[in-house]
Amino acid sequence: MDIERLKSAFRGIYQTEPILVKSPGRINIIGEHTDYNGGFVMPAAINKAIYVAVSKRDDEEIHLYSESYQASYASSITAIEKSDLGWANYVLGVADQLVKRGYKINGFNLYLDGNVPLGAGLSSSAALECATAFALDHLNDLGISQMDLALISQKAEHVFAGVNCGIMDQFASVFGKQDHAVLLDCRTMEYEYIPLELKGYKLVLLNTNVKHSLSDSAYNQRRSQCEQGVAWISAHHPEVTSLRDANINMLEEFVKPKDTEVYQKCKYVVEEIGRIQKAAEALKQGDLVALGKLMLETHEGLSQQYEVSCKELDFLVDYVKDLDHVLGARMMGGGFGGCTINIVKDENIDALILEVSALYEKEFGLSLDAYVVETANGSALIDA
Ligand code: ADP
Ligand code: GAL
Repeated sequence: MDIERLKSAFRGIYQTEPILVKSPGRINIIGEHTDYNGGFVMPAAINKAIYVAVSKRDDEEIHLYSESYQASYASSITAIEKSDLGWANYVLGVADQLVKRGYKINGFNLYLDGNVPLGAGLSSSAALECATAFALDHLNDLGISQMDLALISQKAEHVFAGVNCGIMDQFASVFGKQDHAVLLDCRTMEYEYIPLELKGYKLVLLNTNVKHSLSDSAYNQRRSQCEQGVAWISAHHPEVTSLRDANINMLEEFVKPKDTEVYQKCKYVVEEIGRIQKAAEALKQGDLVALGKLMLETHEGLSQQYEVSCKELDFLVDYVKDLDHVLGARMMGGGFGGCTINIVKDENIDALILEVSALYEKEFGLSLDAYVVETANGSALIDA
């Protein structure tokens, strides 16, 4: 990103000096649909980010401009409402949360640009929320902790985007660390950085370039199904407050007789929570073969049990899963489109991308994008 261009574009619109914040998108090594079930996740921030240039105003007005959409939007701190412009909602949602929590914030000017592919499951929206939260915190001297900035951003997504997401994306965008994955316990919010040493392998993302329309409603539905499973168990075991506390026997006894579909969804989550702990151990031991196998198991579970994959994602995983130079592959993120994440031997990456792109295009008539992704640090103010 050309920071000088960003600043001068801001000055051109608002005739004042901005502060700059960079918030990265994220990948997730393993641990899918576990965050809102009190389980573990293992994301990392990546070298693709949202950039916001922001200045404080003397009045209560909010002025926004998106470079990607070449569009502006104006509102006021005193009457923040959902907009018809999706991109503006992520900014407004954060400002709304700050006001609702009693923080005193001034009006502001914001210019936004970024290179996280939109809607690809790399959490461009979470990055936008976190960048806004960091900027407004700094401009208004609010002194909010990093964890609260992540939580405020998550809540903005619930209220203004209508997706009842977990904490993984916003957490990763705030707490990411270069060359590391973060193992986060979403029940206690304790976390541990694990060095991501890939020894001659790299992480390759294959972007299906599809986002099927049921993704948001299906996400919220899965979440409710998990909550239903917990409710049936906790009627007998009050100590069970999330699927993190449940085991397969409990699911067999209290969930399966009531609803086999809810049972199947809960079973995936309980198994996935178990896999992440094994995956963390494998990564610490440098056992990438074991990690890769677990990723393939996760994909199988997401596709067959949790039913959040799609034919494009399954095609990509099926194609690479038996190749010697690919250790692991799976769909990543909420599902129904977006990217697969693959651990691929360095020297085979170019050829693999060419091969799989041609096949994908032939099968679906769609182009495939591929990113050889590096990890990066989390959200921060940047010096121009
Ligand atoms: P993901 O977060 O996986 O990328 P979402 O559909 O949740 O997918 O969020 C994508 C939305 O975030 C876009 O439709 C847009 O509203 C907003 N967004 C992301 N990046 C930008 C950007 N660079 N400029 C403006 N809006 C953006
Ligand atoms: C994302 C969501 C995250 C997480 C993930 C699935 O889209 O924002 O909180 O639940 O899906 O693991």
